[in-house]
Amino acid sequence: MADKILVCDFGSQTNRLIARRIIEMGVKCELIDHENIASHLEDSDVKGIIFSGGPHSVYEKGAMMIDPVVYESGLPILGICYGMQMMTFQQGGVVKAGHSKEYGKTAMTLIESSRLTQGMSLGTQVWMSHGDHVSVLAPGFKAKAYSYNTPFALIEHETKPWYGVQFHPEVTHTLEGLVLLKNFVFEIAKVSQLWRAQDFIEEEVARIRDEVKDKKVLCALSGGVDSSVTATLLHKAIGDQCTFMFIDHGCMRHEEGAWIKKTFIDERGFNLVMINAKKRFFDALKGVIEPEQKRKVIGNMFIRVFEEESAKLGDFAFLAQGTLYTDVIESGTKTAQTIKSHHNVGGLPEDMKFKVIEPLKTLFKDEARQVGLELGLPYELVYRQPFPGPGLSIRVMGEVNEESVRIVRESDRIFKEELIAFDLYDKIWQSFSVNTNVRSVGVMGDQRTYGVMVSLRAITSLDGMSADVAHIPMDCLLQVSNRIVNEVAGVNRVTYDITSKPPATIEWE
Ligand code: XMP
Repeated sequence: MADKILVCDFGSQTNRLIARRIIEMGVKCELIDHENIASHLEDSDVKGIIFSGGPHSVYEKGAMMIDPVVYESGLPILGICYGMQMMTFQQGGVVKAGHSKEYGKTAMTLIESSRLTQGMSLGTQVWMSHGDHVSVLAPGFKAKAYSYNTPFALIEHETKPWYGVQFHPEVTHTLEGLVLLKNFVFEIAKVSQLWRAQDFIEEEVARIRDEVKDKKVLCALSGGVDSSVTATLLHKAIGDQCTFMFIDHGCMRHEEGAWIKKTFIDERGFNLVMINAKKRFFDALKGVIEPEQKRKVIGNMFIRVFEEESAKLGDFAFLAQGTLYTDVIESGTKTAQTIKSHHNVGGLPEDMKFKVIEPLKTLFKDEARQVGLELGLPYELVYRQPFPGPGLSIRVMGEVNEESVRIVRESDRIFKEELIAFDLYDKIWQSFSVNTNVRSVGVMGDQRTYGVMVSLRAITSLDGMSADVAHIPMDCLLQVSNRIVNEVAGVNRVTYDITSKPPATIEWE
């Protein structure tokens, strides 16, 4: 088993970034709801706890507070921003609503040595984002660093392994934030057992065998990273006891079906059933234009096809899904707002009789990728860009049919080929083309054209929650545009979407 750091969620935008920084150190990390802390304290793998930042004030009615039992656990604690203010408040200090809000980069000066700041410069840049601040320290705490606006930028308890920072060490604008987090994890929490994909696989294979025994399992395989890693893990654990199903809804990327067949049937011998349901999906999508309606039609049809086809294959006791830890957190977030219904196609109908197996549900994406590589899946698959369950349908504005999807599929293939040629594909979180369903006048040869406009979208992101426009060199864009209008029949204009998320979302629908 691996040592673990817990990150208690108090609602900060950057709490997942904290977890990511820890995972990048090779250390197991769990982002937990702050209300559940007590149930984790018995776990001997937990070596340290981080309280995340949050948008609230400790004096607000209903402000989130950690169960004080955590202070009796003896475990090292690092409070970040709100986390530090809450710890101060609970330990008898005073937090003041800030007249002088601090936001952005600021200089911090170390006053005294601390185990938390070993290896950091005396003067360093940190990133602040707070209105409230600690005005009187709780008994036992000492200031170890100050910034222009706060005398308590970094505090430490004199006898207990408790630390607080008013700034955000997890963001890159805090230049030495990683040094600080490493000090907390390795020097203070003394993490020594790192997380290893190989151990995870051994444990999970044993657990799956133990749970499934001689019963049959069904696993939906979409070709995405999560379902591919899940499928390969199951195949390793129980071989042909698991039946895999790929449903082609007609909105897949270029030659996706052939690629899946080659990767999983030809090269790995999976017991994989390929269902061609294109016609059913296109029939159901006739005349559907409204984005949410489109998603619902696809989601419902997927479930229907899945149920019908699985019934033909026999009785299954279990259904395997590629749920990741981030999916669990996201669906569990109390404050999350539904912007789009991300019903993951391949998701579970509520009234199904199967028992669910979700072998990756404790892993973040990076860890799932490591497991995939360790299981021998090719790099190109493991590092594929995310692809939405409803597929290309939500990249076609207006009605989805063979023709409107063809335009998006062909232009998407060209965009990908050129990004690879320009060595940009791996640097981008997601890139795709959109059939805008807008027509405009053009001229090709001596002929007037009245063709479709395709828009290209490429973004960089950490987790898809927010996104920046990728800075693709004009040469590359021109080459893509040139190829698309020449090679994709019906297209006479190409644009590049230069909107970040927010305010736009990544997908157009
Ligand atoms: P948006 O468009 O909401 O997308 O900014 C954020 C990320 O989620 C992906 N996405 C989906 N993934 N089923 C999925 O599995 C869906 O219905 C879905 N809709 C959006 C999107 O591609 C991006 O990575």
